[in-house]
Amino acid sequence: MKRDKPIGVFDSGLGGLTVMKAVIRQLPFEDIVYLGDTARVPYGTKSKEAIIRFSLENASVLMKHHVKMIVVACNSSSSYALESLREKFPVPVVGVIESGVTRAVGMTRNNRIGVIATQATISSGSYARLISRVSPGVKVVSQACPLFVPLVEEGWVKRAVTRQVAQEYLKKIKCGRVDTLILGCTHYPLLKAVITGILGRGVSIVDSALEVSKLVKALLDERSAGRDTRRAPRYQFLVSDQPEHFQKLARRFLGYDIQEVRRIELS
Ligand code: DGL
Repeated sequence: MKRDKPIGVFDSGLGGLTVMKAVIRQLPFEDIVYLGDTARVPYGTKSKEAIIRFSLENASVLMKHHVKMIVVACNSSSSYALESLREKFPVPVVGVIESGVTRAVGMTRNNRIGVIATQATISSGSYARLISRVSPGVKVVSQACPLFVPLVEEGWVKRAVTRQVAQEYLKKIKCGRVDTLILGCTHYPLLKAVITGILGRGVSIVDSALEVSKLVKALLDERSAGRDTRRAPRYQFLVSDQPEHFQKLARRFLGYDIQEVRRIELS
């Protein structure tokens, strides 16, 4: 792994910027190329085959930018495409599922973990399967929350309607008496306050974005592949459609405005 190459991050759209933000916090000197497949978002409602194909195409674009590793920010892609990506590309590929699971299993005291995610991620069984493998005695309560993504993209994180929707989705999680909840979707960290408000502080929240950023840092440290020059990093933003829209909404996820977003062709 070449130290000075950028880290590649891809997602179905904007949500992966929560992962990029966490990676920047851990590794403030790394260059990053971010690709959002805004032409085909959402992935959370798509089939396994489509998600694998899209993910391979996204990673091919990142490889053309000579990335030293690929971070699959999208939970739906991480659920279905990780193996295919690892087979095809000669750089380390890190997904969001494993680090979230490791953290959650380490945190639970009553051996009951909740997982909320897109329909694709829940249907894949990726979180539940890995939790059972790592810690067979743990009971997993899963719930798909498809309306969360559009509500977050609309910027309605503090609206009453979002609280109502969350109350509905979280009923099963509440009944399941979990003490730990994995936010298994890129958009959900923005709903942390609403979710904690409903479940109470007794339920610990695992933010997959934060956990994967720690894993990325550990991997670079372990391979001595982190940038060693302390200069301002370069961030590139690529999208497959509507760069202006991406630029406008990026602040919501990243916390600041971005200057340039380039449209690219995915095939
Ligand atoms: N990035 C997706 C995920 O984490 C959420 C948005 C989508 O459905 O594409 O699963």
